[in-house]
Amino acid sequence: MLVTSRSGAEYRAMFDLAPDDLTGSVLDCCAGGSSFAAETDGRILAVDPAYAMGREELAVRVRMALHEGDRMIDRNADRFEWGWYGTPGRRADMRRAAAELFLADLKGRPERYVAGALPHLPLSSGSVDLVLCSHLLFTWADRLDEHWHRRALAELVRVARREVRIFPVVVQGTGEPVGFLDALRAELRALGHNSQLRDVPYRFQRGGIQMLRIEAAGHRRR
Ligand SMILES: C[S@@+](CC[C@H](N)C(=O)[O-])C[C@H]1O[C@@H](n2cnc3c(N)ncnc32)[C@H](O)[C@@H]1O
Repeated sequence: MLVTSRSGAEYRAMFDLAPDDLTGSVLDCCAGGSSFAAETDGRILAVDPAYAMGREELAVRVRMALHEGDRMIDRNADRFEWGWYGTPGRRADMRRAAAELFLADLKGRPERYVAGALPHLPLSSGSVDLVLCSHLLFTWADRLDEHWHRRALAELVRVARREVRIFPVVVQGTGEPVGFLDALRAELRALGHNSQLRDVPYRFQRGGIQMLRIEAAGHRRR
């Protein structure tokens, strides 16, 4: 799996974030080489298993992912639309800038970057207000099965005091819906976690226009 570098602007669009959403503490898991934490004021924690690597090895992986990502998009141009980015060059520039911001912040504020992997995060229950999860759950449903997703969702809602947002909810490559999504939402509902599928302003992967928003049990919907 590539350690990709989405920017703060991409996160704000993918998760339809308003300033109020970011008033409490935020967990970005899986953060990879994203610059969301670097660009966002406040209490942001970034978690990813790749942070167990040394900084130099991680820098190599993050920069390599930029090239591999560009190549994958060139090979599969019909699977993407460009209305949000404008041009492939603007997307590539945004990702390169994000990668460098991430690497600089990792060096300057290493305490914000914690090694950890779903479905077992090194965080206590209800320890963050908002959890953001970009391009792991559902994206990799062709590799990570329903059982893994059930455990990963349980872990994300365990650490969230207010809500969890996951983007996108379709499989990478094909952009197909994930067959077990509804069943997992029903299980969450039975545990007291309401969820909604909500359109977001971000556009790139065809079919990937919605995030899943899950409320922590007992938290009232806005
Ligand atoms: C496609 S990248 C997404 C990174 C970032 N969120 C972004 O949008 O650019 C997927 C990330 O998931 C991380 N990852 C892989 N397995 C994981 C797990 N079990 N728990 C948390 N993160 C994981 C990888 O290290 C990688 O950085």
